[in-house]
Amino acid sequence: MRPHLPAALVDAAYDGVGRPALFRIGGGDPEVAHETTLDWLTWWGRTPARRAILELAFGSRGRPVDVAGIRFEGPVGLAAGMDKDARALMAWSRLGFSHVEFGTVTGRPQPGNPKPRMFRLRDSRGVINRMGFNNAGAEAIAARLELAGVRRGNLAAGMPVGVSIGKTKVVALEDAVEDYLSSVRHLVHLVDYLAINVSSPNTPGLRSLQGADELSALVHALVDEAAVQAEESSQSVLGPVPIFVKIAPDLEWSAIDEALAVCEAAGASGVIATNTTLGRNGLAPADVARGPKRVACPAPR
Ligand SMILES: Cc1cc2nc3c(=O)[nH]c(=O)nc-3n(C[C@H](O)[C@H](O)[C@H](O)COP(=O)(O)O)c2cc1C
Repeated sequence: MRPHLPAALVDAAYDGVGRPALFRIGGGDPEVAHETTLDWLTWWGRTPARRAILELAFGSRGRPVDVAGIRFEGPVGLAAGMDKDARALMAWSRLGFSHVEFGTVTGRPQPGNPKPRMFRLRDSRGVINRMGFNNAGAEAIAARLELAGVRRGNLAAGMPVGVSIGKTKVVALEDAVEDYLSSVRHLVHLVDYLAINVSSPNTPGLRSLQGADELSALVHALVDEAAVQAEESSQSVLGPVPIFVKIAPDLEWSAIDEALAVCEAAGASGVIATNTTLGRNGLAPADVARGPKRVACPAPR
């Protein structure tokens, strides 16, 4: 992504002013900095004049890309997890992103894991994510998108919009399909694609849904539901909403091959690579020294 402001200036301003300021917010608590940033961006996205200022400064998108019938005006989008509840939805395209993926949202609202659950790796310029799908629930996110006038295909947010859906923690794995389906029904007419999250390490058992049988049952059910909803909808001309499957980076190659074959056979439109890793390779020694417990690789779940 090439900002309208010179890249070197943006980098220098971020390293010299932005990053140190962000690291001070909330006494250094990264989740407070994250929430505060979302509040700012919500404010910036609220009026056409503010959006125009953002667009002028950062709105360059680069070369368009077409995937599954969706035109993305550039190659860089915002991944799931940054704006789980679609709060700053009118700001993201003006920062130069070609799409945004809200969520992960779950069938029911849930608070996520106990805090602290987000940890900075300062010298590695990374973050450890143990959030656990804190979100307002699919119905609430759908209401927010509707209120903002976002509908599938209308680009009201200035770009295509996707939503990542995951399993509610208290829902048993055997009932996962129904939980995902309830999110699909709330969101299918509002978004340009749906991402099936079966790869977060922070919901116990979720990654087991990447197994061939489980994945096949889940993807088939969601693809079928998207087809049914498309037939019943006033947007039937658009066809079923594309469904992508987000996979974990820690799978063996053979498991990746299997997951890809299952996704294709079940009618998924693509794969999102990849989710948060459980690996801890390549960390700066200072980060390891600072918090050996914090960076410890949790047992795979
Ligand atoms: C704090 C945090 C929260 C995240 N939450 C989600 C999420 O809710 N759903 C999801 O699919 N991915 C989530 N992710 C994963 C990112 O979308 C992305 O896939 C991951 O960070 C790997 O990309 P990267 O190597 O560019 O960081 C989260 C990541 C972080 C750091």
